[in-house]
Amino acid sequence: MKLLLFFALYAIALSAALALAGHRSRNPSSAPAPRRRPARILIVGATGGTGRQLVAQALGLGYEVTAFVRDPSKLGVEHPRLRVAKGDVLDYGSVEAAMRGQEAVVSALGHKRYFGPSRILSEGTRNVLRAMEAHNVRRIVCETSLGIGDSAGRMGLYYTFMVIPIVVPFYFWDKTRQERSIARSNLEWVIVRPGVMTNGEKRGPIRHGRHVGNFLWTVRISRADVADFMLEQLSSDTYLRTAVGVSW
Ligand SMILES: NC(=O)c1ccc[n+]([C@@H]2O[C@H](COP(=O)([O-])OP(=O)(O)OC[C@H]3O[C@@H](n4cnc5c(N)ncnc54)[C@H](OP(=O)(O)O)[C@@H]3O)[C@@H](O)[C@H]2O)c1
Repeated sequence: MKLLLFFALYAIALSAALALAGHRSRNPSSAPAPRRRPARILIVGATGGTGRQLVAQALGLGYEVTAFVRDPSKLGVEHPRLRVAKGDVLDYGSVEAAMRGQEAVVSALGHKRYFGPSRILSEGTRNVLRAMEAHNVRRIVCETSLGIGDSAGRMGLYYTFMVIPIVVPFYFWDKTRQERSIARSNLEWVIVRPGVMTNGEKRGPIRHGRHVGNFLWTVRISRADVADFMLEQLSSDTYLRTAVGVSW
């Protein structure tokens, strides 16, 4: 009983820390001005679940895509408007080289090193932001997750009290630092926080905004729909400099 109580207190304290450490958004702009769509985009995390969707959908929409990947053989896509840049987000030189000539960045960076402190998301994203500044690339749309900053608790009870405290506390802590680096930058940024993701089809409708998610049950969305929403943010200022939750 004492153990259970101790664990519940730990989960609540972690949730509070993730709330305080992550980004807290102001209200989104109510009358966004239409903006020109960038032509050339760099996709970070292009071999991942969301990343693959981003690459396929961006090519379908007519973008000139550069896929930033550690292992080009994992991508498995060829297209006249697709260029592959081999690199690692932790290696600034490779990020900087890939940034040349880009107009915007879409990041679906993630990893599976859950059990132990890690700085891949925060350190890697800092390198991306630094290379953007160096090459005057202004816009970044970055995927993080519901459950941090002003969305703490919104992954539902199961994630708040089981998955986040037991499986991914370090990962989520790194995400809070990732969000803060983005929010501190002078760039045009949009943080997209999905609920639990599926590999299903793009099906919509997508709920989006600061109050997406639920404190009791888990909300979901497909990676395909997340990618669709992220690409929309390249040419919309509605959520500029805010963190927006997305779910079905
Ligand atoms: N799973 C969920 O339900 C869920 C819910 C909400 C948010 N999210 C978040 O959404 C994001 C994307 O998730 P996902 O499942 O679609 O992605 P994923 O399949 O985990 O893919 C992550 C991508 O990041 C790349 N990457 C990792 N370390 C890298 C490095 N050092 N340099 C360059 N690239 C690197 C991976 O490359 P390799 O292929 O070479 O490994 C891969 O392309 C993650 O941050 C995740 O935490 C997930």
